[in-house]
Amino acid sequence: MEEKRIERTITPDWLEVREIRQLVCDELSYLAPDIQDAAAMASAELLENAIKHGASIPSPLISYALVHSAREVRVETRNAVASEDVARALREKIGRIAKCGDRQGLHVRRLEQMLADCNARAKLGLLRVAFEAGFELRYSHANEFVTITAARKPSS
Ligand SMILES: Nc1ncnc2c1ncn2[C@@H]1O[C@H](COP(=O)(O)OP(=O)(O)OP(=O)(O)O)[C@@H](O)[C@H]1O
Ligand SMILES: [Mg+2]
Repeated sequence: MEEKRIERTITPDWLEVREIRQLVCDELSYLAPDIQDAAAMASAELLENAIKHGASIPSPLISYALVHSAREVRVETRNAVASEDVARALREKIGRIAKCGDRQGLHVRRLEQMLADCNARAKLGLLRVAFEAGFELRYSHANEFVTITAARKPSS
């Protein structure tokens, strides 16, 4: 099967996340249930981040893409960022996850930190996409916009 690409431009509205989850399940219905769930979760986490951490200037609109075939499923989001510092922090976070050979350990350590400090914010979304859903994360930054890509093979 040819690769299929679906693109949406969404407003920063939580209801949009629900609609995208449904779109992902419909689009991937020819694949195994686990990749449908994983891609829906990855899409929701990346979109929630774009809504929560993105900036409204130069544009509040978020670009979302789902690219899929029997060989690969890829989710892409793009949003504006308020500063170079925000972009750098995100790049470093994704770099740490990508380089870490022990994502389960990273995940467990984050959970331990949360238990130790009840006031700590979870900050678990990207780790869940990488560890629980099994996606490789990539980051790029150009002209005040960051793009995050999450890609994995459907399980065989
Ligand atoms: N799309 C984005 N644009 C700008 N910064 C982002 C984006 N996504 C993530 N970040 C930065 O990366 C950090 C880690 O994201 P992550 O999803 O792991 O945690 P969180 O969103 O803070 O918390 P949680 O997902 O557990 O509610 C965020 O706190 C934010 O600083
Ligand atoms: Mg998040």
